[in-house]
Amino acid sequence: MKRRSFLTWFSAGWVASCLPLAIAACSPTNTENATSTPEPAPPPRTDGFELAGTVADLDRDSQIIKTIAGNKVAVIRNPKDSNALIALDALCTHQACTVTWKLEQKEFSCGCHGSKFAPDGAVTKGPATDPLKSYQAKIEGDKVLVKVS
Ligand code: FES
Repeated sequence: MKRRSFLTWFSAGWVASCLPLAIAACSPTNTENATSTPEPAPPPRTDGFELAGTVADLDRDSQIIKTIAGNKVAVIRNPKDSNALIALDALCTHQACTVTWKLEQKEFSCGCHGSKFAPDGAVTKGPATDPLKSYQAKIEGDKVLVKVS
């Protein structure tokens, strides 16, 4: 075989062997997702409750902090009844820093100036003097829902 025809055959063979790999690389990896249509969004709720997070989020972090309808809300499990939820405005009534739930102490704490609040939002230590506003909250399936209006 002459050198020229060897190189032609070698090149053609190399391209032929690489073609399936090139096609596979360009095709979608999950053909099920590529052909299925996305699920439609659930209809808007009519009861005023909005999604704050999931039960898994709540149990992993012991709190959910989420802005709902312009209100920063903190949601926890009620320390006296873990099946019930407590939702409070998460902005400290002193100068509006975000409070965080301290699971061991069973209180909300503000890191800015040290105010503390009971699970029901009552001030237990100043300088804040006003309680945290409370909201309705519930669990529906795996969702944590809050109603701020
Ligand atoms: Fe919370 Fe000052 S902002 S104690």
